[in-house]
Amino acid sequence: MKFIHLTDTHMNAAGKQDGLFAKVHMADNVRKVINHAKESGIEPAFVLITGDLSHEGDAADYAYIRTVLDECSERIGAPVHVVLGNHDHRGPFREGYLMEAPSEEPYYYSVMYGGLRLIGLNTQIPGDHAGELDERQLSWLSEQLKEAAPQGTIIGLHHPVLSIEGMDGSHLLKNRAVFGDLIAGTDVIGVLAGHVHSNNVGTFRGICAVAASGTAFAGERADPDTYAMVNAIGYNVVSVNAGEGITVRTVELPTGREELVRFPIALLAAQH
Ligand SMILES: [Fe+2]
Ligand SMILES: [Fe+2]
Repeated sequence: MKFIHLTDTHMNAAGKQDGLFAKVHMADNVRKVINHAKESGIEPAFVLITGDLSHEGDAADYAYIRTVLDECSERIGAPVHVVLGNHDHRGPFREGYLMEAPSEEPYYYSVMYGGLRLIGLNTQIPGDHAGELDERQLSWLSEQLKEAAPQGTIIGLHHPVLSIEGMDGSHLLKNRAVFGDLIAGTDVIGVLAGHVHSNNVGTFRGICAVAASGTAFAGERADPDTYAMVNAIGYNVVSVNAGEGITVRTVELPTGREELVRFPIALLAAQH
């Protein structure tokens, strides 16, 4: 079994794109990725998007994102599951994307695919760029993991648990130590995140952990004090190897990698 991991799509409704990244059509990037996966013959069980679906979107933006992702789902022939990132907003997401009453309730869930369990968690804190799992999700997760899934569990969340070279700890899940204690020794075989806009793979409590680059743009250190955002489009294909963990294959689509904007590193947290 395999699935596709996308992240940081940063989409907004047509004509409302954030001026900083106006040279990139974020929704088209997602369509390009799905077309590339389809033409490559990848038949995923599902597509997981680990947050920053929108760039400070309102309900209309989320309704647009829903139509784009519904198209993508039909094209690739698989459902799309999403989690929320720091640039997302719970109320507008619930209203525009889930088509339900707006509320600030965290969005998290568990679904099964042929013995593989996918758990999506909400690390986004309203009004904050940092990420944390609230007590309610931690106790819910602990209950879920009491019973192992036949092919293991994948957890999708926005803020990474891995230390990232060249970035300070403010980008990481704040309470990753508690989260680590909770998943260590369980059936969790992968922790997939985004947020940092670069590809990082490592282990966390012995579990494969990923912070992926995403579809909107990539972040690269330009000099000791400055970060450059460049035009780059990537996605990961994750193969679930029965009883033997996962393999993560990164695919990068051709672009000019032209620089879109530069930020002092001190201001980085607000931009991705
Ligand atoms: Fe983010
Ligand atoms: Fe982002």
